[in-house]
Amino acid sequence: MFHIEQYIRMDGLKIGAASPLLDRLSVLSDPVRPRLLLLLEGHELTVTEICAVLQLPQSTVSRHLKTLVDHGWIASRAEGTRHLYALAPADRTPAAARLWALVKEEIAGGVAARQDAHRLDGILAERQRRSREFFASSAGQWDRMREELFGTRFHLTALLGLLDERWVVGDLGCGTGQVSAALAPFVRRVIAVDSSAEMLAAARRRLKPAGHVEVKRGALEALPIADGTLDAAVAMLVLHHLPEPGQALAEMARALKPGGRLLVTDMLPHDRESYRQRMGHVWLGFSDAQVARALAGAGFTGIRIAPLPADPAAKGPALFAATARRAAGRPS
Ligand SMILES: C[S@@+](CC[C@H](N)C(=O)[O-])C[C@H]1O[C@@H](n2cnc3c(N)ncnc32)[C@H](O)[C@@H]1O
Repeated sequence: MFHIEQYIRMDGLKIGAASPLLDRLSVLSDPVRPRLLLLLEGHELTVTEICAVLQLPQSTVSRHLKTLVDHGWIASRAEGTRHLYALAPADRTPAAARLWALVKEEIAGGVAARQDAHRLDGILAERQRRSREFFASSAGQWDRMREELFGTRFHLTALLGLLDERWVVGDLGCGTGQVSAALAPFVRRVIAVDSSAEMLAAARRRLKPAGHVEVKRGALEALPIADGTLDAAVAMLVLHHLPEPGQALAEMARALKPGGRLLVTDMLPHDRESYRQRMGHVWLGFSDAQVARALAGAGFTGIRIAPLPADPAAKGPALFAATARRAAGRPS
């Protein structure tokens, strides 16, 4: 292949400055290639799809694709057994982008480009038809396939991506740090607090790789967190251990910023007396009314309480999730 930067006079002097741009321009002199770029500017396509649009044999298309890849015009990526091609804007210099804009202006309204665009519409519609057909035939089986392929909980973890990445979040009564570990990838900082040295040791082991998780020993009734530090706080399965949940909720309000959010998850009322002895539970769950009263009393507004769907594998009592915001004024 001829490269302009390789054009050297017999006496050894370079007569053209190395010009990758002119090199790229020379590549576009074959009219098929600009048509190809036009197609790949808007869509990632397979060789078979490109052949169908350009109505050219695969060997010809593959040759042109290789040239365009070699000169940085397009990029390819493997997906399973097939290769997809697309314009490679990230690699292009501003000059190459201007060059492409000029060439595009020249060919975009032409007959060949219009025909290509029409055939491309057909190819894309075919793609969509195949996907629709798949869902039409598998609607009844989709839940089972989804679970088989991806498990039952991935969407719940993915929803944590809705958290604001600037947030500082408190995991209050963090235990072994499961909540902190789930939050850590999505927020700026996690402050995990627990009163048990043993639980904290396990939390530290779990959270070691996450540098922005601070693990602190302290009581929920006197949190080791300065006023108005937290954008959000979580008290997961901890309130039923506290003789005075209202006191801990007031501390959470103090540590939250005005408008900061609290999530409390705990058990709905149940009759498993044995939990008092076996696990030190003080409260056998909480009713909606108890939770709403306690939250309002601690200075929270916008209180919402929802029962959580039971996990088929779970043996414990049913759970609820209560969310609320710290009122704008100073908590009393
Ligand atoms: C049942 S565990 C739940 C842990 C964790 N939130 C989770 O969802 O796995 C309750 C945790 O609350 C902690 N805890 C109980 N009373 C506390 C208090 N007054 N102050 C701070 N932590 C407390 C316990 O040490 C324990 O780690």
